[in-house]
Amino acid sequence: MIENRIYNFSAGPSMLPEEVLLRAQKELLNYEGSGMSVMEMSHRSKVYDNIICGCREQLRSVMNIPDNYKILFLQGGATGMFAAIPLNLGVTGSADYIISGNFSGNAYKEAKKYLKDAREAGSTKADNFSRIPKQEELTLNPDADYVHICENNTIFGTKWHTLPETGNVPLVADLSSCILSEPVDVSKYGMIYAGAQKNMAPAGFAVVIIREDLLGHVSPLCPTIWDFTTQEKKDSMINTPPTYPIYICKLVLDWIESIGGLEEMKRRNSEKAALLYNYLDTTDFYKCAAAKEDRSMMNVTFRTGNDELDAKFVKESVARGFTNLKGHRLVGGMRASIYNAMPKEGVEALVGFMKEFEQANRK
Ligand SMILES: Cc1ncc(COP(=O)(O)O)c(C=O)c1O
Repeated sequence: MIENRIYNFSAGPSMLPEEVLLRAQKELLNYEGSGMSVMEMSHRSKVYDNIICGCREQLRSVMNIPDNYKILFLQGGATGMFAAIPLNLGVTGSADYIISGNFSGNAYKEAKKYLKDAREAGSTKADNFSRIPKQEELTLNPDADYVHICENNTIFGTKWHTLPETGNVPLVADLSSCILSEPVDVSKYGMIYAGAQKNMAPAGFAVVIIREDLLGHVSPLCPTIWDFTTQEKKDSMINTPPTYPIYICKLVLDWIESIGGLEEMKRRNSEKAALLYNYLDTTDFYKCAAAKEDRSMMNVTFRTGNDELDAKFVKESVARGFTNLKGHRLVGGMRASIYNAMPKEGVEALVGFMKEFEQANRK
């Protein structure tokens, strides 16, 4: 870690790789001899065209995205896509939403505004979203236009490790908090989308990866900026795109490629997650909020079971140079978001602190 930087466990926006920040700093005032910053250049210029096209190509290569999938960079974040999805894919007005946490619930609420038959096809709300629904708990409609899931539940710290079986119905998945953390088989999805601000870039856009046969059915009510078909034809540039975040995304993808791609990313991420979970499994001082088989590799949720002690933990963690460990109010306790850019040393330091805190506060 560079001096004076701290271990930031924020759920998003979150840490970016230092290599990326340093490169952006180096290129800040004069990008590749253009005499200007990427922030200052026209999105229609040749030099910017190379950046956005390069980012798209690099994403295809890093994620191994098949040719029959299109890649879009759109504004409005993942929340914007909650509306854009029913407006683009809800051809017959029917969709199944599986609720495994707050964001899948928000996506469902939004879809109900636009579809006559948006259904809740399963939910673990009764268990405070501490687990992922099982296949046999789902009531899927074989005629639905799509099935929607949130693959990694940022707030609750759970993840779909096996995707639901949806037959011929396209699976639409929110990967905001797990994209680029490990390889995924894109061909299993009709559409993947993600807000950029965790593993991809600073906040400012959502990426959409969509099978091309799902394009072309947009509702006339859809705002043009979220019309996937038009945006695909116009290379995501029907208006000014968030130019700088897309540039940083390209640098992040270069970084992932330089370390060995998503296989290596997964190796590093599972090693970090194991450091935390292995310790949590050996103590009864902290309790993990998520069911063991559904634990997220990106967001680790835990608590002591005593609200005052949790508050003390968070306060002392700040004094020790960690930040953003307070859990979301829907879960309480603590949450360590350990996205791609969090170094292993940061997680080792956190586990060290957790052990000390346990020793000092165990009754
Ligand atoms: C899984 C998931 N989906 C959606 C969102 C909302 O994203 P945005 O702020 O880009 O709209 C978040 C934000 O944290 C998230 O974690």
